[in-house]
Amino acid sequence: MTNRMEYLTFFNGQKMPILGLGTAQALGDDVEKAIDKALEIGYRHIDTAQRYNNEAQIGRALKKWLDSGKIKREDLFIVTKLPSTGNRAECVEKHLKQSLHDLQLDYVDLYLVHQPTGYQDVDPKDNGGKMLLDVNTDHVSLWKAMEAQVDAGRARSIGLSNFNARQVKRVWQSARIRPANLQVELHVYFQQAELRAFCRALDVTVCAYIPLGGPHRQPPSHNANAADANKLSNHIQLTNPVVSQIAQKHSKTNAQILLRYLIQLGVAVIPKSTNPDRLQQNFDVFDFELSPEDMDMLERLDKGPAGRQVRSHIPEMANHPEYPYNERYWFREKSMTDERVRTSLF
Ligand SMILES: NC(=O)c1ccc[n+]([C@@H]2O[C@H](COP(=O)([O-])OP(=O)(O)OC[C@H]3O[C@@H](n4cnc5c(N)ncnc54)[C@H](OP(=O)(O)O)[C@@H]3O)[C@@H](O)[C@H]2O)c1
Repeated sequence: MTNRMEYLTFFNGQKMPILGLGTAQALGDDVEKAIDKALEIGYRHIDTAQRYNNEAQIGRALKKWLDSGKIKREDLFIVTKLPSTGNRAECVEKHLKQSLHDLQLDYVDLYLVHQPTGYQDVDPKDNGGKMLLDVNTDHVSLWKAMEAQVDAGRARSIGLSNFNARQVKRVWQSARIRPANLQVELHVYFQQAELRAFCRALDVTVCAYIPLGGPHRQPPSHNANAADANKLSNHIQLTNPVVSQIAQKHSKTNAQILLRYLIQLGVAVIPKSTNPDRLQQNFDVFDFELSPEDMDMLERLDKGPAGRQVRSHIPEMANHPEYPYNERYWFREKSMTDERVRTSLF
């Protein structure tokens, strides 16, 4: 097998490299150097967000490559996200224009609504550091403003992040330009089989965030024994013995097995790294294939909702009417056809 990039195709024919570079918490010089190294290795899909505070550094690195002629704009796939302080129709254009200015680009390949919940656009410092909820978030009018960004040529495609199935379907039903992609937490401990089936039926591609299980993250705060060392190792899938066994068999690292598994499920992955060796390692996942037995063993590692790590970045978010995580994503009968999923109401 050759180590060749694979792609997901959106409903509109646009192709997204199935492997991208995550950049959350990659800041300053680190992220600029990481983009440089990643482009050299062959990464073309880069995931950022206005909230990550690194678009200007990423833009500098991209400009250097584009100006040098070593890369063409059409070879890149750049994703950024509308911050939840801008989850109102009248704010979308302003935020995307700011992202494009910082990224030094004329358009992004994919623009995502970062969160289904909205916040007021006021300085938290004046509120004792607290984010204030905007409880009037309206996904339908927000989506119309997202569509206008495609019309204006600022985004090739638009999509959603952290929305549950009910929220995705509401946008999908109201859309003139359908969401092309849903970015959600997804890894071997939280495999989201129902949500993936739901998205497939709607022809919405899925991108997995924290695909390595976010080894840098603390155990989930809803875990009662968060401080317990056993629970911590339980949460770190990079050292899982089943993953290690499969890695040994293929002479690959555990991280490569975790990424390859998701790719073979047809899900895009955006592992974050600023380390040159790990950037290379995460990219080298197209020269081997997991067997059906490997896939079965990895499928059995799913912990369901108990495997979820991210509930909210901000505690107040749980009080928002569009807080997505209190509902089960989707109930699917095994025999349900894609057509039935599309037409059913819930
Ligand atoms: N839409 C959303 O709400 C949302 C939420 C969270 C994340 N995201 C996106 O998803 C991306 C990935 O998520 P994430 O960064 O939280 O988690 P992740 O990619 O699962 O894990 C990143 C961590 O793993 C380490 N790492 C990377 N490659 C490794 C390897 N081969 N072996 C061992 N350790 C490795 C990294 O450290 P080094 O850098 O030192 O290698 C970093 O600490 C983010 O960067 C962001 O772009 C989106």
